[in-house]
Amino acid sequence: MNRRIYLDHTATTPLDDRVLDAMRPYFAETFGNASSVHWFGQQAKSALENARGTIARAIGAQPGELFFTSGGTEADNFALIGVARAARRSGKNHLITSAAEHHAVLEPCEMLKEEGLVVTVLPVDSNGFVDAQQVSHAITDKTCLVSIMHANNEVGTIYPLKEISAAAHERGVLVHTDAVQTLGKIPVDVKDLDVDLMTLSVHKLYGPKGIGALFIRRGVEIESLLFGGGQERGRRPGTENLPLAVGFAKAVELAMAAMPTEMQRLASLRQNLESRIRAAFPSALINGHPVERLPHILNVSFDSSKIQLEGEMLLMNMDLEGIAVTSGSACTSGSMQPSHVLLAMGRDAKTAKATLRFAFGKSNTEGDIDYVVESLHQVVSRMSH
Ligand SMILES: Cc1ncc(COP(=O)(O)O)c(C=O)c1O
Repeated sequence: MNRRIYLDHTATTPLDDRVLDAMRPYFAETFGNASSVHWFGQQAKSALENARGTIARAIGAQPGELFFTSGGTEADNFALIGVARAARRSGKNHLITSAAEHHAVLEPCEMLKEEGLVVTVLPVDSNGFVDAQQVSHAITDKTCLVSIMHANNEVGTIYPLKEISAAAHERGVLVHTDAVQTLGKIPVDVKDLDVDLMTLSVHKLYGPKGIGALFIRRGVEIESLLFGGGQERGRRPGTENLPLAVGFAKAVELAMAAMPTEMQRLASLRQNLESRIRAAFPSALINGHPVERLPHILNVSFDSSKIQLEGEMLLMNMDLEGIAVTSGSACTSGSMQPSHVLLAMGRDAKTAKATLRFAFGKSNTEGDIDYVVESLHQVVSRMSH
């Protein structure tokens, strides 16, 4: 093995040097607690509010509508649990989501069922798509929230949020979207999408891990998950993580500036890999919506009725070739479970396991494509003989 290629940018990305530089002074020099009234505290407070302003502007929100969290997982939990619990006061106990959501949405739904919430999990079609009509049909007079992600982290399918929001708002239902995979990749604007809550995370766009945010439109009723301080206007207590908030803002600023050219470049890398895989492997199935999809994700399954490739071995062999990819499968108690998204799209379990998700990012070049195709050839022929 002579090289390593990272193609798992939907899992996480390396920290941009410029983000690290922006964060550095806030670990030691500007160390104050943003809640303190003295000069040190006020320095921290001002940096924190600048960061909040930058991020809020990037998504068309007001700074007062953005609440820092420990990441996308917490923001998803906060949105679902917080809104569902607050809605009990007005007698609403029904939530709508989809089978292709991230576990950070699906698992809070499971927990909320134990608190009496009724959950409708909408099926997705073979492209992983959910449309506004499905949402509209599922709404009842007990529905408090619709939670549909902006784009899928495994197959890249982009959901018609504007139409979904219109259908929900017509019936007075709030809309939450998980935009973890779209921030900095495609335009994300809370006014344009007309959503009431939006989950953000920054380690997918060369920012630090361990920080995210929840956009909560002014006036939305939501209960807090944490208690014990007045930070984040009492909604998310705990001393704010200032260096990470500063890094969050810097990464968003850089991603916004680079988006038009970088996403075009990544789309062309993905297209090239896709056409070469289609040409070389007749058993390859491309997962995700053919048009409404993120530019940088290519998700490929090998059809189990045509070729027998064992999922774990496929990933391991790619890793041995120096290529970091994933199948989207979850590893539970030492055994690999097929991706719930691919199963929901109708793939059989063996095909779903024999999947590779290529997620392109800054470090990838055309040269990587040649190497990946060549390596894939070797791996597949080794495994199928
Ligand atoms: C769609 C989606 N939502 C939520 C998360 C969780 O975000 P975090 O890692 O910041 O907790 C991820 C991360 O993989 C994701 O892809």
